[in-house]
Amino acid sequence: MPLNASAEAKATAEQTISVLQGGHYSWQKGWLKRIPGIYARLLNYLVPYTKTVIAAMFFMVITALTSSMIAVLMGKLTDQGFYAKDVSALWWAPAALIAVALLQGGSTFGSSYLLQKVSQQVLLKIRCEMFEKEIRWPAANYQKYTSGIVMSKYINEASTALGGAAQLLTTIVRDSLQLVALLGLLIWHDWKLTLVTLVVAPLIAVILRWVNKKTKKYGLQTQTALGNMMNTVLEAYQGQRIIKIYDAYEKEQTRFRGVNELLYKLSMRMQAVTAAGTPLTQFVTMAGVSIVVIVALLQAQAGHLTLGDFITFLSALLLLMNPVKKLSALNGSVARISAAAESLFTTMDEATEKDPGNMELPRLLGGVRFEHVGYRYAGAGRQALTDVSFDVKPGETIAFVGASGAGKTTLINLVPRFWQPTEGEIYFDGIPQSTVTLKSLRQQIALVSQDVVLFDDTIAANIAYGMENVSEEDIKQAADAAYLTPFIRELPEGLNSPVGPAGQKLSGGQKQRISIARALLKNAPILLLDEATSALDTESEKYIQLSLDRLMKGRTTFVVAHRLSTIMGADKIVVIKEGRICEMGRHEELLAKKGAYAHLYNIQFVQKPTEDKIQSA
Ligand SMILES: Nc1ncnc2c1ncn2[C@@H]1O[C@H](COP(=O)(O)OP(=O)(O)OP(=O)(O)O)[C@@H](O)[C@H]1O
Ligand SMILES: [Mg+2]
Repeated sequence: MPLNASAEAKATAEQTISVLQGGHYSWQKGWLKRIPGIYARLLNYLVPYTKTVIAAMFFMVITALTSSMIAVLMGKLTDQGFYAKDVSALWWAPAALIAVALLQGGSTFGSSYLLQKVSQQVLLKIRCEMFEKEIRWPAANYQKYTSGIVMSKYINEASTALGGAAQLLTTIVRDSLQLVALLGLLIWHDWKLTLVTLVVAPLIAVILRWVNKKTKKYGLQTQTALGNMMNTVLEAYQGQRIIKIYDAYEKEQTRFRGVNELLYKLSMRMQAVTAAGTPLTQFVTMAGVSIVVIVALLQAQAGHLTLGDFITFLSALLLLMNPVKKLSALNGSVARISAAAESLFTTMDEATEKDPGNMELPRLLGGVRFEHVGYRYAGAGRQALTDVSFDVKPGETIAFVGASGAGKTTLINLVPRFWQPTEGEIYFDGIPQSTVTLKSLRQQIALVSQDVVLFDDTIAANIAYGMENVSEEDIKQAADAAYLTPFIRELPEGLNSPVGPAGQKLSGGQKQRISIARALLKNAPILLLDEATSALDTESEKYIQLSLDRLMKGRTTFVVAHRLSTIMGADKIVVIKEGRICEMGRHEELLAKKGAYAHLYNIQFVQKPTEDKIQSA
């Protein structure tokens, strides 16, 4: 094949695919080359189920053969029952027909059931593998993929790939076998007549392909339109207050009508294609059958063909329609499956977090030292942190202050190695962070962040999250120390009350105290605290402060501080400016310096910022 011809074929194929997929999947050049790899990988998942797959294929062979049997039976019945008026046909014909029907039904059930079983098991396995990988990703990956895209992989891509693969296997094995068996029967019966038939066959294939192509195109467009409709409903639902306050009823209705009208048009086009496809195919089929009938009649008159032969031939011809239909849709499903599988495997091939250290960190006293630590986010133009060095003694509290975007959160995230320092090293009791395992490092660290994460479970389970062999007494103590007891006592189910999805049933302050109880129970030597900026009511604030004081006691605490009391109580205050340490010391010392800290202190705590100050800042 000349070079440009193959390149052209590839380009056309790529175009077709991207149209089929509505641009949903990201296509890279050379995907055709990768198809065998993708299929090899999918097939690899079948290895443990080899026996089941072989059994399913065995059933498919039976199904394929039964259609030929039906054609043969019809012929025999005509010859012996009608032509020769053989009385025995009265019992064997219905018996044989019922037997074949049972065989066909049974084998179809067997193959579908077994294949579904395998594909559902593989689906389960792939989903679990993907999840297992996904929760171990490095932090950067969660920014790379939106949650919506990842969700669609679990739902759409996973089932498209596996449901499609099962269907594909059926088509390849059963329908092609059926085609071969029926064609064989035709040729064996009358090769000349078969030749006549084969003239019409391509015509039918062309019509079916056209119908398929159009259906797929409108099908995908319909899916997008459906998505848009749901999105419009969802947005109107979430934005109901905005719609009311801006009197936007008309606007939303027009938008919704527009989306729906498109959906209507697409559905009608789809209907037109499928509605036209069936009679069109029937017409061509009948045209073919007419030719066959003419030729057959001519042959019969010459005495070459019995009525039974003719019936067998005709039945086989009509039975051929179904496998032809399935096989002509083959290339579409191949494209869909490889697209979905590639999308799945790309995500599954994402590397998990690097964990090169092999030393198990022993229980720490809590000394932490930063030495010339720098960090630059991948792809960022400038350093987020530069040359950060400080030393915290066990049990001390170190507070970080600075303007928004200065690098405080980044610094805190380096301690459990959520991000890996790009320069310098962090030492824990003198042990370099890069030499220890992530697991043993993170065991020593508790985290209380401003956006509390709760799971859809009970209060007790949320407090004991990730900890094994925790007694109810321990949980009660932690809850009590976090001043949760009065609140829990009022709940009918106490500690075992559900918190709702993402803790929806709780107030902001209650959620925060649960996360403090969780950190208390973990009893780690190092505590990371990203204080909430939003002010809670003073009562709640008081209890949170009290429980935090308990939590910080005896632990090395890194705190991004927004409360004056936390800062004043800190052993060391680090002022960060554009990723660098610009001042460090205790509250009084830094105030006396009248530098950056004194300035921050003045605008944040001494007087509320005025319009002027914000504008000049
Ligand atoms: N995931 C990220 N990817 C790329 N850049 C980031 C990322 N997170 C933060 N940055 C950048 O790094 C710098 C420091 O951000 P950081 O979140 O550490 O600031 P911060 O001091 O915690 O600010 P704030 O007080 O507003 O929380 C900012 O310039 C920010 O844009
Ligand atoms: Mg921050």
